[in-house]
Amino acid sequence: MKGGNFQNRIYLDNAATSFPKPQAVIQKTLMGLYNYSGNPGRGGHSVSKDASRAIFSMRLAAADFFQTSREENVIVTGNTTHALNIALKSILRQGQRVLCSNIEHNAVRRVLLCLEKTRDIKIFTFDALLDDSAVLQSIEDGIKRKKASVVVLPHASNICSRILPLEKIGKICRENGACLVVDGAQSAGHVPIFFDDWGIDALCISGHKGLFAPAGIGLLIVSEKFKELEKGSDALITGGAGIDSESPEMPEVYPEHLEAGTLSAPLAMGLEAGIRLVSSIGIKKIAEKEILLGNLAKQIISSRKEAVIYRPDLEGGIVSFNLRGISPERAAEYFDSFGICLRAGLHCAPTAHQSIGSFLEFGGSLRLSAGYFNTPCDIQRFGQVLLSMPLK
Ligand code: ALA
Repeated sequence: MKGGNFQNRIYLDNAATSFPKPQAVIQKTLMGLYNYSGNPGRGGHSVSKDASRAIFSMRLAAADFFQTSREENVIVTGNTTHALNIALKSILRQGQRVLCSNIEHNAVRRVLLCLEKTRDIKIFTFDALLDDSAVLQSIEDGIKRKKASVVVLPHASNICSRILPLEKIGKICRENGACLVVDGAQSAGHVPIFFDDWGIDALCISGHKGLFAPAGIGLLIVSEKFKELEKGSDALITGGAGIDSESPEMPEVYPEHLEAGTLSAPLAMGLEAGIRLVSSIGIKKIAEKEILLGNLAKQIISSRKEAVIYRPDLEGGIVSFNLRGISPERAAEYFDSFGICLRAGLHCAPTAHQSIGSFLEFGGSLRLSAGYFNTPCDIQRFGQVLLSMPLK
């Protein structure tokens, strides 16, 4: 971070957001700001129509990327949290039962705790850190025995490289009539997602992480079943939709039904550019690179005898660890003084830290999250600083 010069910084906080943004995304977003800044769906003139077309083009690209046949079910949101709020508050009704994991981000945890108070929903939890077969069994039990009608889970954790077996979970939910809501913040762009085939009912993602878009745009992709369950609910946000303006209610048609307020065509263009970039690189290649970097990081970290690595068996770009003798926050400051950007603390996922065992002893962890644009040299440099860190 010396002198604010990017060349001297090594960014290893891609789970928070991807950085730097690729040129293709920057160029498309800027082009949007210059040429597509009309209000989409709010006028019959060409400037408004150009902006509408830009958003429609992104919707098509996203529908193709996430493998859903209905682009009208791709809802533009501000971020994953916004999408999760819409999804959960639309379908969880008074007294209903919901099954979630023990590694939820606050974007799910706080929504459920709020609904527990206001709608008396009952929350059940499964252990997402068990092996896949035990996870599948717990989810089936949660639906059959505990009568959970909604299952919500993170496809990938933001604390460690745990990826849940979503295809099999989708099958269990479908066979047992439960609605499946997926927090895809950490998996979109890192793991393939087949929305229709896997039986997902609501997929909530952000553009700015694995899809390289600017912050401020996310997506909620919904199934036909979700649309049925959502009917008659108080929409989370109501307001202008550009159509049916005489009605006191939001239009029934999708995507407008869940899209109150002006959308950003420049951000949509940035997101489309990010989606196209990920597709052209290939998710497999991205995942392989992240695994390589994550494994290298774990190898280096474990060479310090004071190191505790959480779930080192899980392969991927996210590595949570601590060093006995220093708090995660102070360690992150030390890294930052050498221009190395890691995130420390609870990462908005306190129960995940309780589950991996970092909560009581350290109050969280240091998290290294490597992205596709990092190199083995970045990890080596991280390692040099790690090995030089004074502990008490
Ligand atoms: N949820 C993001 C993270 O894990 C911000 O850092």
